[in-house]
Amino acid sequence: MNRRFVTVFGGAVLALSVAACGGEGAGGDTEESAAPEDLTIGVSMPTQTSERWIADGDSVREQLEELGYQVDLQFAGDDIPTQSQQVDQMITQGADVLIIAAIDGTALSSQLQAAADADIPVIAYDRLIRDSENVDFYVSFDNYRVGVAQAEALLTGLGLRTADGAPGEATGPFNVELFAGSLDDNNAHFFFDGAMDTLQPFIDDGSLVVKSGQADIEQVAILRWQQETAQRRMEDLLTSSYNDGSRVDGVLSPYDGLSRGIITALQNAGYGAAANPMAVVTGQDAEIASVKLIDDGVQHSTIFKDTRLLAEQAVVAAEAFLAGEEPEANDTETYDNGVKVVPSYLLPVETVYRDDIQTALVDSGYYTAEEVAAGQTDG
Ligand code: GAL
Repeated sequence: MNRRFVTVFGGAVLALSVAACGGEGAGGDTEESAAPEDLTIGVSMPTQTSERWIADGDSVREQLEELGYQVDLQFAGDDIPTQSQQVDQMITQGADVLIIAAIDGTALSSQLQAAADADIPVIAYDRLIRDSENVDFYVSFDNYRVGVAQAEALLTGLGLRTADGAPGEATGPFNVELFAGSLDDNNAHFFFDGAMDTLQPFIDDGSLVVKSGQADIEQVAILRWQQETAQRRMEDLLTSSYNDGSRVDGVLSPYDGLSRGIITALQNAGYGAAANPMAVVTGQDAEIASVKLIDDGVQHSTIFKDTRLLAEQAVVAAEAFLAGEEPEANDTETYDNGVKVVPSYLLPVETVYRDDIQTALVDSGYYTAEEVAAGQTDG
């Protein structure tokens, strides 16, 4: 797991200076001169069923522990009451900062109130926590841009656009189906908005046809981002809209887990054979099973969001709070959580096609070539 750890910031030095300056303004019962060893960071992650959240949790924990902090890392099994209870417990056990990736972005208001009452700063991790003034900072990626990149990858795969953005040779019309993430996840809306703003002109001019007619986010969303639910929806779409000999040419999928469900449904229906090529299916997160599918020419693309760098930003923000400072934001406009605009640090994203696996994922040390070939990490 060490390869997931990036020591690109002078963390240890920073930690010492934090301790030396005292923890004024920091959360919980932080002592003036608290050393990292005496400080606990609560890290609440949504689920272990998705490989990305395990990597996120591990990265945050490793980076914090390297700096000497105590870490209370919990995964909530995609169950909202479990996450509420875990966060409650972190607060009562005296966490000094909370880093939370919420299952349901609106379900943690009372926990966040308790955190505020105890003067514990809260950092929303990748998923914005909504409807609460007690969210102090947000670390994520440029989520609208993710949606744009997914749509661009779909257009590129269909030949309506070249990889460098020029108009493609193809004219269509192509049949496509659309998927979105969980409606209770703020990100799902940003991804879908970015994608639809990009696809709409092609739908309007007839080069893309959503044959099912399902193009509203409410119609295409997949609760809890579940792979099985996506597979079922794709099966239903094939039965209801493609039983006349027509084929699905492309599928907008916002997350690799959904993409694998969609691909399974398509394969079960005979897609992927020479006479019936696999549809162009997009994705996100560069999960290892999907990277293998991309390497094998089955899945078309993914969006790589380096969880090591996201974890690093969460750690930098936590240390700023512990030093009594505001973390540095690079966006103070985009993420209105319904009560306030949450200052954010957003990281860039990278589209990965088959040809990019080596440079983006292997050369950067995110995966080894063996892991890509095997479709699983060594743990
Ligand atoms: C989103 C996240 C995506 C993907 C999805 C499903 O909140 O931004 O990258 O991981 O959850 O886990």
